[in-house]
Amino acid sequence: KRKITIPDLQSQKGRGRIVCLTAYTTPVARLMDPYVDMILVGDSLAMVAYGMESTMKVSLEMMIAHTRAVVKGASRACVIADMPFGSYEKSPEQAFKNASRLLAESGASGVKIEAGFEMLPTIRFLTQRGIPVTAHIGLLPQRANQYGGFRIQGRTGQEREELVKLAKNIEMSGAPLVLVEGVVESVAREIVNSVAIPVIGIGASPVCDGQVLVTDDILGLFSDFTPKFVKKYAHLSEEMENAFKNFAEEVRSGDFPTMEYCFKN
Ligand code: KIV
Ligand code: NA
Repeated sequence: KRKITIPDLQSQKGRGRIVCLTAYTTPVARLMDPYVDMILVGDSLAMVAYGMESTMKVSLEMMIAHTRAVVKGASRACVIADMPFGSYEKSPEQAFKNASRLLAESGASGVKIEAGFEMLPTIRFLTQRGIPVTAHIGLLPQRANQYGGFRIQGRTGQEREELVKLAKNIEMSGAPLVLVEGVVESVAREIVNSVAIPVIGIGASPVCDGQVLVTDDILGLFSDFTPKFVKKYAHLSEEMENAFKNFAEEVRSGDFPTMEYCFKN
């Protein structure tokens, strides 16, 4: 089984949907590796693993540590890592310095940045220098402060035109992939039909060339907030809670450990 590369993902456009999930640790990456094409080490890490209220406080060091853990568990899937807030927006040079560090220290195949038109020069700068950049457009969680929360994008004619234009410009700037979050179906469709690079969607309808969700959401592990576009494929919180409760009860009652769990002379 050969490692899936970014060009492999690109050549999948129009041939079969790209399957992507997030991971932050080695064991979870190892479990999903046979089934997904791409693993995203998302800065959603902030909320699902660190109890932070937004993605804005993730550091480059945290992304490096978790991406390195995921790369260890991924022998087949292509690993892409999020650039954290504040690590790439200032200039193409700043983005290159931090993206190259993220890739070199983790072994991931590419990075993802949240992008508007202002990031086009950065996308070009990085992709011309060996760093494949996935551009994340539409609903941008790192800009929640500016928008005053999470709002579905592309409902107005102007937003719709801008998003399609942005996607085209991202392709022209050299990005191998574009990820579209939280947009209405008609806009996602227009984007998919306007660019030759694969469009990975989250909350962006089935028209996309691929789909991604946050793993902790689909496992029913993170439930502080569940967006409409999340489908739960398991209810792990309940199962874990039962395990914790039963362990506590059995320790207190003396039912655990029995002799079968003990060393004997
Ligand atoms: O951080 C993340 O998990 C993401 C996905 C939701 C696309 O960016
Ligand atoms: Na993210």
